[in-house]
Amino acid sequence: MNKSEKTQTSGPASLSVIVLAAGKGTRMKSPLPKVLHPVAGQPMVGRVLQAAKAVGAKELRVVVGHGESLVRRVIEPLGAIAFQQKEQKGTADAVLSADPGSMTGTVLILSGDTPLIEGKDLAAIISEFNDLRADVAVVTAELKNPGSLGRIVRQKGELKAIVEAGDAGADTLKIREINSGTYIAKASVLADLLSQVKPNNSKGEFYLTDIISIGLEDGLKVVAIKGRPAMAYGVNTQEELARASRVVFTRNRKKLMENGVVMIDPATVYAEDDVVIGGGTVVYPNVYLRGASRIGHYCVLEPGVHIISSSVADSTHIKAGCYFENCVVGEKVQIGPYARLRPETSIGREAHIGNFVEMKKTVFGARSKAGHLTYLGDAKIGDDVNIGCGTITCNYAADRKKYETVIGDGAFVGSDVQFVAPIKIGDGAVIASGSTITEDVPAKALAIARGRQVNKPDWKSPSEASSMTGQKIGSAPGTATATRDEKD
Ligand code: UD1
Ligand code: CA
Repeated sequence: MNKSEKTQTSGPASLSVIVLAAGKGTRMKSPLPKVLHPVAGQPMVGRVLQAAKAVGAKELRVVVGHGESLVRRVIEPLGAIAFQQKEQKGTADAVLSADPGSMTGTVLILSGDTPLIEGKDLAAIISEFNDLRADVAVVTAELKNPGSLGRIVRQKGELKAIVEAGDAGADTLKIREINSGTYIAKASVLADLLSQVKPNNSKGEFYLTDIISIGLEDGLKVVAIKGRPAMAYGVNTQEELARASRVVFTRNRKKLMENGVVMIDPATVYAEDDVVIGGGTVVYPNVYLRGASRIGHYCVLEPGVHIISSSVADSTHIKAGCYFENCVVGEKVQIGPYARLRPETSIGREAHIGNFVEMKKTVFGARSKAGHLTYLGDAKIGDDVNIGCGTITCNYAADRKKYETVIGDGAFVGSDVQFVAPIKIGDGAVIASGSTITEDVPAKALAIARGRQVNKPDWKSPSEASSMTGQKIGSAPGTATATRDEKD
């Protein structure tokens, strides 16, 4: 050990983490590697890494194997380094694959499939480990149904060994204190302990759990630290995955309600971890909020609202069945029912958006209105604009490119108007209903672009005409017959 490493370890020991994530997860019966299955929207391994980061782990190493390239794609952006375990020869072999000999300070060993671990759990355990001046610690939990988890064997209260359920006798199986799969060790002893592990068990694997008895034999200080049972919650099946999501959603709801959010039926409100909702907002049943969505104070979210990574300012009313993705909605907006805001859309304050309105990459100005059945894509709509029912921006051209529609402040667009982009409408312009607008409209002008109406006074249908004159249908001269023929 060189001098600088010594100074590092003599202060508050630096913390690194090894996450085991090479297993296949056969019982998930899914093509996705087990640790990538999301719990409340976030891959399990991401949750574990997040907990480690929360306690200041400086180096994040993840042992990968099954589905390696997919797992790398998730963990590397989170700042972790992947270490390949070529063959899954057991948990001790997995830790060795992460090259623990090159680590210093304190090493936390976690499983990628225990998604309910939180930073506060790890903080408590680390401080106990430091207080006890231990060399190695295993985190345990007392469970009613210890199932197939490793049992903590004690003698006169002192930790002796961990025995896997598959290798345990009837008496050992009765023990309810189990191995959570989380460990802490001084880096200086870890590699040496691991090198002594032998595959002496029913599975013929290198068990990490053996470092407990080996450490005791070596005269090290090896302790068991009790953690919350949730720390030991490992996911092996889809049912266990769903249960983990439920735990997280329940935790998130509680946090939001403590903040003053009103939930009519909390059990049906789903908010991912990064969602923030201001106090005084009312959330109706069956609302789903994802990503880092921010909802202000005094908003109303009616049933069936689904919001992804969007922000909504105070006092906005979102009516039933709205779907927003990556958009920004201002204050005191009224929107829906059944409106869809697609990415890069922003809605100005006090705007009014009614039913069956879709917007994409559109800036919609303050106090502007689009009450019914409208599509606005690649558009800039000014303030105080009225968009009539059935208005459409024709943004996608035959050259397969997208073009922009710009409508100035105070413009009035009648119903059933098509804007063939690229197109600019000046401030205060009026667009007549039923117009197909293909040329720019100057400010304050009236644009009418539709077939001129023709009224034929006192018109008779061909059958009426023939019964009066005795002529055959189709032979009657004039426009009326021509019109009938065209229709046929
Ligand atoms: C392990 C413990 C058990 C503990 C339980 C807690 C051992 C021998 N047993 O059992 O005492 O109660 O966790 O959940 O350690 N992995 C690899 N490479 C391998 C083998 C496993 O990366 O070669 C990874 C898995 O992907 C998983 C973790 O290590 O994330 C645990 O492995 P798993 O096979 O699930 O161990 P358990 O049988 O659950
Ligand atoms: Ca497991």
